[in-house]
Amino acid sequence: AWPQADPRPGFHFAPQRNWMNDPNGLVYYEGEYHLFFQYNPHGDRWGHMSWGHAVSRDLISWKELPVAIPESDVMAFSGSAVIDWKNTSGFGTGGKPAMVAIYTGFDPKTRNQSQYVAYSNDRGRTFTRFGKVIDIGSTEFRDPKVFWHEPTRRWVMVVVRATDKAASFYSSPNLREWTHESDFSHPSSSRSINWECPELFELPVRNGARGEKRWVLSVSQGDGGPDGGSAGQWFVGAFDGHRFKLEPNWPDTPRWTDAGADFYAAQSWNEAPDGRRLWIGWATNLRYASAIPTYPARGLMSVPRALALQREGQDWHLAQMPVREIERYRTKVQRLVDVKLDNASRALDPGDSFDMTVTIEDTDAERITFTASDAQGYQTVVGYTPATREIFVDRTRSGPHFHDAFAARHVVTLPQGNGPVTLRLLVDRSILELFAADGTRTITDRFFRADGPLRWEVSAEGGSATIRSLDVWRLAQPDS
Ligand code: FRU
Repeated sequence: AWPQADPRPGFHFAPQRNWMNDPNGLVYYEGEYHLFFQYNPHGDRWGHMSWGHAVSRDLISWKELPVAIPESDVMAFSGSAVIDWKNTSGFGTGGKPAMVAIYTGFDPKTRNQSQYVAYSNDRGRTFTRFGKVIDIGSTEFRDPKVFWHEPTRRWVMVVVRATDKAASFYSSPNLREWTHESDFSHPSSSRSINWECPELFELPVRNGARGEKRWVLSVSQGDGGPDGGSAGQWFVGAFDGHRFKLEPNWPDTPRWTDAGADFYAAQSWNEAPDGRRLWIGWATNLRYASAIPTYPARGLMSVPRALALQREGQDWHLAQMPVREIERYRTKVQRLVDVKLDNASRALDPGDSFDMTVTIEDTDAERITFTASDAQGYQTVVGYTPATREIFVDRTRSGPHFHDAFAARHVVTLPQGNGPVTLRLLVDRSILELFAADGTRTITDRFFRADGPLRWEVSAEGGSATIRSLDVWRLAQPDS
C-alpha cells in the first residue's frame, strides 16, 4: 500500500490527523511543556493555518488538545509564546500571569504579514486576540520569536524580513508597543530564497572558560541547504538586547544545523526548567513536505534535543542530543560486546522504535553499515566510512518513489582522529536521527518502507571492524 497509513510514531509527536508544519509557541508553564504547531484542521495539505496544540510533562509523551488559535480573518502563522510573569501586558488575571502568543497574521486577501498578540488565562487552552502590534506593510515579514531579556528588562523579538534574508530585532516593555532596534543579515544567505523561523538564545560554551557563554542566532531557509532543499543555519555572537554582533572571523559559508534533509523551522522552549535549552524541529524538507506518503497525518516533529555550544580550535559547533527523558521509555533488547566483524554481518532485532548506541574501533573495513531492509528489498543504510571519517545516511533506495528530491545520500565529517567512533541512532518508524561526536554532528532523515517489518543488520564491508559495544533499547509507545 502506497501511500501508507502511518501508525502513530512511537515517541515522536505527530497530530492524530491532518497537516502539520512548524513548531510554534514553545513554552514551559506549571509542569507542562507546550507544543503549539502550524496546523490545518481541515485537511492534510497546507492551508487554513491555525495553531494546533499538544502538552507533555516529559517532552516524550504528548497529549493533543483542541486547536488553540484558529484561523480568522488572518491565518495564524508561526510565532512564539511567553509567560508574562510581571504582568507587563496587563493580560494576567487573578494574580496569575498570562501566556502570551506572538505570531504572524497572514491576510489571504492582501497577503500582508504582520505580528499579532493573543493571550491565554487558561494554560494555553484558549486564547483571546489582542490584535496587531507590528505592521511594516510587508508581505514577507514573519515568525516572531519573543523572550524576556533580563539585562535590559525588556521583551525582545527576533523576526525575519524573509526575502530580504534579514533578521530584525525589536524590543518592548509590555508586548504591545514594539521598537525596532536593528537588523542582521549575512553573506551565507546568498544561495537561498529566504530566511524563516529565526531563533535567538544564549548557551554555555561546553569546553570554554568557566561561565563562558555566547548567543546563538538560528534561521531556517527555504532552499539552498546542504542537499539543495530547505535547511537551518546558525551563527554565534553577542547580543545586548539591541543588536546581534557576530563572532569575529565567522565564515561566509553557512554552518548547517543538521546534515540531513529533514530538520526545519527549529524552535526552542522558553522557560525550560534547570536552565536547559531544548529545541525541536519539523522533520521534513520543503521540497517534498506535501508529498510525504503517510495518512491520516502528514507532519512529524523531531525528537526534542538539548543544546550546547562546543569549540573545536577556532571552530564552533552546535551540539544537539536527544533529551534524557527518553531514557525512561527504553527497554534493553540487545547488547554486543567485543564482536569482530570481518566482511560479515550480524542481525539486529531492534523493532520499529529504538535507541541504539554503538562504539566501533580497530577498523580497516571500507564501511561499517547498519542496513534496514523491507520485504520488497527497499533499503535504508546508516554508516561510517573510516578513511574519510564520514558518517552517512543513504536513502537512495528507501521505499517506492514518491518525489524526485527524496532519494539522496547525506554525509557529515567527524572530527579528525583515529580513536573509536561512537554513534547514537534513534529510529521511529519513518524517521531516523543520527548523533555523533557528542551531538556536534547530526543527520535527520525521513525514510519509508514498502511493506511489512524492517530487518536490520550491521556489517563490515571490505575489511574488518570491532564493535566494542552495541546497545539497543526498544522504545515503548508512551501513553498519552
Ligand atoms: C515555514 C513557514 C513560516 C510561516 C509558516 C506558515 O515553514 O513558511 O515562515 O510562518 O510556515 O505555515
